[in-house]
Amino acid sequence: MPDVPIIGHDAVLAAVTPADAIERTRAAFLHHRRGAWVMPSKIYLESPPFGDFRAMPALGDGLAMLKWISSFPGNPARGLPTVMGVIALSDAETSELLALIDARSVTALRTGAVAAVAAQALARPQATSAGLIGCGLHGAWAARCLVAAGYASGVCHDPRTPLADALAAELGAGWRAGSRAEALACDVVTCVTPGSAPVVTDDDLRPGAHLNMLGADGPGKAEATVDAVARCALFCDEWAQASHGGELTGAVQAGRVTRADVTDLGAVLAGEEPGRPGEKATTLFDSTGLAIQDLAIAAAVLAALREGRIDVPAAQL
Ligand SMILES: NC(=O)c1ccc[n+]([C@@H]2O[C@H](COP(=O)([O-])OP(=O)(O)OC[C@H]3O[C@@H](n4cnc5c(N)ncnc54)[C@H](O)[C@@H]3O)[C@@H](O)[C@H]2O)c1
Repeated sequence: MPDVPIIGHDAVLAAVTPADAIERTRAAFLHHRRGAWVMPSKIYLESPPFGDFRAMPALGDGLAMLKWISSFPGNPARGLPTVMGVIALSDAETSELLALIDARSVTALRTGAVAAVAAQALARPQATSAGLIGCGLHGAWAARCLVAAGYASGVCHDPRTPLADALAAELGAGWRAGSRAEALACDVVTCVTPGSAPVVTDDDLRPGAHLNMLGADGPGKAEATVDAVARCALFCDEWAQASHGGELTGAVQAGRVTRADVTDLGAVLAGEEPGRPGEKATTLFDSTGLAIQDLAIAAAVLAALREGRIDVPAAQL
């Protein structure tokens, strides 16, 4: 068997820009919508009381991918990241293993990228400012991708104020740290908190705003109240995941939202369904995280490897 390149966290982030991640993520949603990329359901493997592992496969563009990733909330107390894992990328024609790629960096890029893709598709065309609620790992990448998508000004909010200050300073002169209310007053609001308590209520909704809800990516998590969710024009990455382990789940369980109320982002991008229903609507996109997004970034990493832009060790397996 040929040597397999092992591509670590920093090499991934050096090889794939937020702009590239955004374009490839948008294309992945379109490929999936048209049936060219396929993605079986995510499998959860509980490891109580510590956390869970997730196995996420996808196939497309001549590649087959499996992401094996964890969510262990107690890890930071042990000095370890909450999320760790690996992506195995194979040739879909021969099954040859092409690369092993750090999953943490790929997840960060694809999660940030979808916030920008959804904002470009669903926010008002004249939207310019972005508010960020939750400035941790994935919030920071969402903000970097929103900057790459042209959001030159915004407000970063996090109870860990040094984190919000540092992110705002990194993002540029138009950005500053601020309160939750100030972040919510922006044209596009992206929430990336742990989802243990609502950060958006009914009273916070403003006509014309767009909300990206990224933090609730599993059962029992929510960043908005059911009343707030039920009042918005709703969009999701995938109904099966969003209705069972996403921001929409509470409203679905309460009987306030049904499948007919929610449009897939891929359908909007493909022009099959309308997006924003009008200037004054408040739109809400529920991101739960899809394997096709990971495949999009893994393909970008492979392209960089083949172009000689990544110099990494290889191992005989
Ligand atoms: N949708 C997806 O595809 C996807 C992908 C990866 C992670 N996630 C989820 O996103 C969430 C955040 O993940 P992370 O890795 O960035 O975690 P993190 O711990 O790095 O960051 C979370 C941040 O939220 C802040 N926060 C907590 N309560 C807050 C509040 N009330 N208001 C504002 N900020 C608050 C914390 O201080 C922290 O800085 C998790 O629930 C994770 O599972 C979703």
